[in-house]
Amino acid sequence: MCGIIGYIGFRKASEVLLKALKTLEYRGYDSAGIAISNENGIEIKKGAGKVDDVATDLSFISLDGKIGVGHSRWATHGRVCNENAHPHSNCSKNVALVHNGVIENYLELKEELLKKGHKFESETDTETVAHLIEENLKSMAAEKAFSESIKRLEGSYSIVAIIKGEKRLFAARRNSPLILGIGENENFLASDIPAVLPYTKKIIPIEEEMLVSVSDSEYKIMDFGGMQVNPKVLEVDWDSTVAEKGGFAHFMLKEIYDQRISLKESLSAKTEEARKILDSAQNIHLIACGTSYHASFVFATLLEKELKKNAKAFIASDYQFVANPSNETVVIALTQSGETADTIQAVKFAKSKGAKLLSLTNVVGSSITRLSDSIVYLNAGPEVSVAATKTFSSQLAVIYKLIYGNSYLSNIPEIISNSLSQEQKIKELAQKIKDSKSIFFLGRGLSYPIAMEGALKLKEISYIHAEAYPAGELKHGPLSLIEEGVPVIALAPSDETKAKMLGNIKEVKARGGFVIALTDNPKLEKEVDAVIEIEKTRAELYPFAMLPALQLLAYYVSIFRGIDPDRPRNLAKSVTVE
Ligand code: F6R
Repeated sequence: MCGIIGYIGFRKASEVLLKALKTLEYRGYDSAGIAISNENGIEIKKGAGKVDDVATDLSFISLDGKIGVGHSRWATHGRVCNENAHPHSNCSKNVALVHNGVIENYLELKEELLKKGHKFESETDTETVAHLIEENLKSMAAEKAFSESIKRLEGSYSIVAIIKGEKRLFAARRNSPLILGIGENENFLASDIPAVLPYTKKIIPIEEEMLVSVSDSEYKIMDFGGMQVNPKVLEVDWDSTVAEKGGFAHFMLKEIYDQRISLKESLSAKTEEARKILDSAQNIHLIACGTSYHASFVFATLLEKELKKNAKAFIASDYQFVANPSNETVVIALTQSGETADTIQAVKFAKSKGAKLLSLTNVVGSSITRLSDSIVYLNAGPEVSVAATKTFSSQLAVIYKLIYGNSYLSNIPEIISNSLSQEQKIKELAQKIKDSKSIFFLGRGLSYPIAMEGALKLKEISYIHAEAYPAGELKHGPLSLIEEGVPVIALAPSDETKAKMLGNIKEVKARGGFVIALTDNPKLEKEVDAVIEIEKTRAELYPFAMLPALQLLAYYVSIFRGIDPDRPRNLAKSVTVE
């Protein structure tokens, strides 16, 4: 949540910051702002709204200076308004900083600062830090004033600050992501790698509880005790164009189509070590949130059915209240960002009970990787749209490779391509259902988690209530919700669920439901209102045939309702608060 960026170098900082904020916008987009340090001191431009809305005010770009910080906000403390937008400053305006996270003891600190005469302009926790630094600057040099202030903070933060007259950026990290991008005579600090990709591929993921001091030509990384560390510089092989729209109307549509290529990369993921861990495990707990939870549900099913393990998928935020891990448990965390706070906390709980951790993630150097005993990277490339699409299919691909090895998986990208060829038909159906109040998704077996994913995709970007049910559950309650014209998306592949799904479809039709079947069974055509054809394939590969159709359906319903599918309200990618 919240995207932060810092720049120091030879370019016009305002241009670098605004471009980076556009890339980071998926982390939060209710307000945006930048602060530049130049011969006039520190100048700040900020406001409520998306980066594009705020930055159309040309004064943003006209700010001169080669040092600056920027922020795109997902509100935690304080309403969405101009005052609460970052960067935040202090009474004498000699500090400006951006923050991602939550300062838990800010009320206590604020009270102390108010007593010392500080005046606050916003309702945020973040502003407290700027005043704290100001207070320390009265008796200390800049670097010390910054580090002493940081040491007083409780909670989570990645913070980047500029201080008047200092040709450095000051940063700190605790439980929120931060990377250092190393360029030639320029350096960057950012929440995420894509923000720095146009300038450098050399990065250092900043470790937990570290302080950073960066000039245009060198950097210093220290722990909170002041001890300098020299972490390895990583070369990322992501292409900066992957984080651009490439002619598509939205990142989401581009990323749906990217799957034809990203899946090939995911299928080449290194899985040998992880497979050994699975072979030696008997009790496996899978931990994830949202879309990643749906992937973990597929994983748990295949571990049970194919590898005969005791495996259970847990919602990460509930894990500590319902699970009982031990040193005999192997925990598998699925998180594309590697930064989801709920997942990280659940993993820490499992590790405190002695569990071993295997993680599946997309982001090199992310927080989860530092906790893991073994890691499998998804190799899906950066995903910008808030709604996960290509990273979900990549999770499935890696899961399948772990379960089945390499046999017959190589045609998965082709199955995806064929499914995308239904786009026109899907668009027409999206038009038909776009004004519905509720839409239901039904599936059995492996199709059920795919139905859950279809429902999540639809609800998060179209704001229509959508729910998935294991089709057999319908008669145990939800059937009462079906009335004339209610859309029901039935996942009905020709696998072992075929006959029972037909029965459930008939139950819905008998109550007047408008059934759209995803099927390769031509006989279903006369039973339902519309068919989205899927490729006939091996039973276990049907999820790949159905998924792109569900993603496209959600995308077009969102478009026809006039919503920006890349930036659904109230949401952000990478949820770093619990
Ligand atoms: C939905 C979506 C979210 C994420 C969830 C977990 O489209 O993207 O539900 O799947 O926030 O995120 P990661 O996988 O980064 O842990």
